[in-house]
Amino acid sequence: MTKIVISGWVPKQVTAPYADKAEFVYPPDGQNEFTRKELLKEIVDADGCLLMDNEGDRELIDTAKNLRAIANHGVGYDSIDWKYATEIGLPVINTPTQVTEATAEHTACLIFSVMRSIAHYDREVREGKWCSPNFSDINTQIEGSMLGILGFGRIGKRVCRKAQGMGMKVVYYDKFRAPEEVEKEYDVTYMDFDDVIKTADCISLHMPYFKENHHLFNLDKFRIMKPTAYFVNCARGKLVDEQALVTALKENIIKGAGIDVYENEPSVTPELCTLDNVILTPHIASLTMKARVGMCYEALDGIFGVLNGEKPRNVVNPEVLKF
Ligand code: DGY
Repeated sequence: MTKIVISGWVPKQVTAPYADKAEFVYPPDGQNEFTRKELLKEIVDADGCLLMDNEGDRELIDTAKNLRAIANHGVGYDSIDWKYATEIGLPVINTPTQVTEATAEHTACLIFSVMRSIAHYDREVREGKWCSPNFSDINTQIEGSMLGILGFGRIGKRVCRKAQGMGMKVVYYDKFRAPEEVEKEYDVTYMDFDDVIKTADCISLHMPYFKENHHLFNLDKFRIMKPTAYFVNCARGKLVDEQALVTALKENIIKGAGIDVYENEPSVTPELCTLDNVILTPHIASLTMKARVGMCYEALDGIFGVLNGEKPRNVVNPEVLKF
């Protein structure tokens, strides 16, 4: 029977619709994910693999002698050595549709929370303080502020709508400028990358990570932001020089940040955790039950599509599909 390995624990509702198609192997109740050793053992004779938080590196791919499709539980697939997979003709699958709404919601929550210093006030109340001055510019009125979206794909567009719902204006940069009718529909203005950074009152990053854009956001980029502006990242940690972010926040080069992704996950630069002007969440932007289960279905549909000789739309290297 077809064997599908899922590297992390999943609720039964994830595998139930496919029960007659394959045998599923995943960690038992109470264990969040397979250890590397367990994963390498299970994957040896697997036909398909859905990676939750694990690396799909060359060793793992080479260990899996029967593997016909490998999927990541997310839209990003930088955790899979997709170049190597492509070289050897292995289809790589992602979940571009189901992550969108939850990730955009979380991004909007971070934008609004950091601009209104929600975490700071929460800490004050818990510490028994009730001493905020009557006039303070610790936070910023969202309505009328300018959001700069870097990466105007599915998630960037949903964030745009949510921000506009709060009265923000939106400028954007994307490697591929949107057609004029899309810009009209979304009521957005296109600018060069640096111009977005200079103009916006809050920057939200929505770009994929590739080695080529490592540390795309460094101290120079923070320095051209307005000192009153905020920085939000729910995309990938390695796009940002985390030490530069610490400096920017500590030296008031920028006003605040909302961060869901980190350069060396699961480690977080310790100094970041000591700063009051940053809100930190542990890479959970897509974490709603609806989204996470939907992402599993999207990935498994992609895997079974490939195994059935179809061309699912969420194969990121379709050139390997020779049928
Ligand atoms: C994604 O979609 O790539 C997320 O980071 C996974 O939660």
